[in-house]
Amino acid sequence: MKVETVRTATINGQKPGTSGLRKKTRVFMEPGYLENFIQATFNAIGGAQDKTFVVGGDGRYFNREAIQTILKMAAANGARQVIVGQNSILSTPAASHLIRLNGTDGGFILSASHNPGGIDEDFGVKFNAENGGPAPEKLTSKMFDATTTIDHYKIAEAGDVDLSTLGETPLGEMTIQIVDPVESYKALMETLFDFDAIRALFASGFTMRFDAMHAVTGPYATEILENTLEAPSGTVVNGTPLEDFGKGHPDPNPIWAKSLMDLMMSNQAPDLGAASDGDGDRNMIVGRGLYVTPSDSLAILAANAHLAPAFKDGIAGIARSMPTSAASDRVAEKLGIESFETPTGWKFFGNLLDAGRVTICGEESAGTGANHVREKDGLWAVLLWLNILAVRKESVADIVTNHWHRFGRNYYSRLDFEDVPSDQANAMIDSIRAKLTDLAGQEHAGLTVVSADEFSYLDPVDGSLSENQGLRIAFSGGARAVFRLSGTGTQGATIRLYLEQAVEQGGDTQQNTQDALKDVLQAALEISEMETFIGRTQPDVTT
Ligand code: G1P
Ligand code: ZN
Repeated sequence: MKVETVRTATINGQKPGTSGLRKKTRVFMEPGYLENFIQATFNAIGGAQDKTFVVGGDGRYFNREAIQTILKMAAANGARQVIVGQNSILSTPAASHLIRLNGTDGGFILSASHNPGGIDEDFGVKFNAENGGPAPEKLTSKMFDATTTIDHYKIAEAGDVDLSTLGETPLGEMTIQIVDPVESYKALMETLFDFDAIRALFASGFTMRFDAMHAVTGPYATEILENTLEAPSGTVVNGTPLEDFGKGHPDPNPIWAKSLMDLMMSNQAPDLGAASDGDGDRNMIVGRGLYVTPSDSLAILAANAHLAPAFKDGIAGIARSMPTSAASDRVAEKLGIESFETPTGWKFFGNLLDAGRVTICGEESAGTGANHVREKDGLWAVLLWLNILAVRKESVADIVTNHWHRFGRNYYSRLDFEDVPSDQANAMIDSIRAKLTDLAGQEHAGLTVVSADEFSYLDPVDGSLSENQGLRIAFSGGARAVFRLSGTGTQGATIRLYLEQAVEQGGDTQQNTQDALKDVLQAALEISEMETFIGRTQPDVTT
């Protein structure tokens, strides 16, 4: 076999965003595009010679073809071994675990997360470093630089590798190890949670629906929830990963997981509703008649973590992304542990986790996780909820309302304005930025601005500085508005507006969230002059 063929790559450098490089599938399918990015990644990490990697994806359209390309490129670049999920499947948290378990030099995860899949939808590639976490900013900058200077890539001239049978198979000098995607992840979960208690919970008649949204968590949830924890069969729905996710939008939130929401709000609702996204790192938690916001879920999991074996000695600290509500800060304060506010994107939690400063992390965008891997982990969050429910023997709604009474409540909502012409979105952000220093003391919609700034983060572990991470405006009375531009969109710009209103002692639990947020919304629209800049004030998605 001819292992090394040098071809000329097209030069189409793209900056990896919040989580890797995400583009329309057809862009990734252009000759040389994927190859260029993979070679640039190898170049950025100092080559692949004698290295080992993990490769897998969420099963979306082009996943299998892309994995064949990566395998051939790894072989041609001198890699020693690649661990691949059987049939090219690996959830993001399972890939993170395999990187750590096997001490590999990193791994490629093929996914555009919660974005739809298909030839006319989205595709993506993430590179995770040897700690199992998303490439940190200093590495993504190197990757970007490499895409602008690259003039060739290396790829083995070989037929496709059969990835359907477990075991080892050679590709030139390289060994491919095909592993069961679920096995070691499940073994890890068994070390963290009280599986006997959860099994007893199901045996007692506790009911649940887990919506895998035709995405990667189907096989994981079926094996763990139904086959191991003995939840009744049929607990997992939409459990077969499909290339187009059944034409759905595999994003576990009340908008895209509507059928689950409808069930949970009906009188047929099971005790717990849960869902995960395309690549298995996000989660949604719904009780009977009550949706748990991701910010609340983070706070509640942190406050109750000690009920699970993994955290029986307590947690070291809690980190949340800046736009996430301050609900978890209140928990940290009561527990007397550290809390951190990081920029959006899981990669910023890595150093804090590696240094043992935090144990549990979360984002408002349905991401929750802990120190067992270096990614957010959808099924992990569901299992921790189950473990807590098994111990407390209360309903989800009772646990949530008790939490609000004990810690106070943070009403929270995110408004997304999608596919905004980039120049308009940038002009609006620039205009708010220019006003920031004068905002303090001003009154808008009856709220007084207490402080306004552009968030930048000084990593307390490695001292690196990340600037321009979102505009935050705090108002008197516990309200806050945050503006930032999405780093994961594939078309135009997406403006995210995050709204929060903190109240003490649970406040009026009957009050509707949007009602509690109407003043801060009005103030944010006034300050941003959104109507003038983008010609609309109605979001596409409100979560
Ligand atoms: C979005 C979320 C962010 C998350 C990222 C990857 O990024 O807001 O919290 O880490 O997806 O799942 P954004 O599009 O806002 O840059
Ligand atoms: Zn995801």
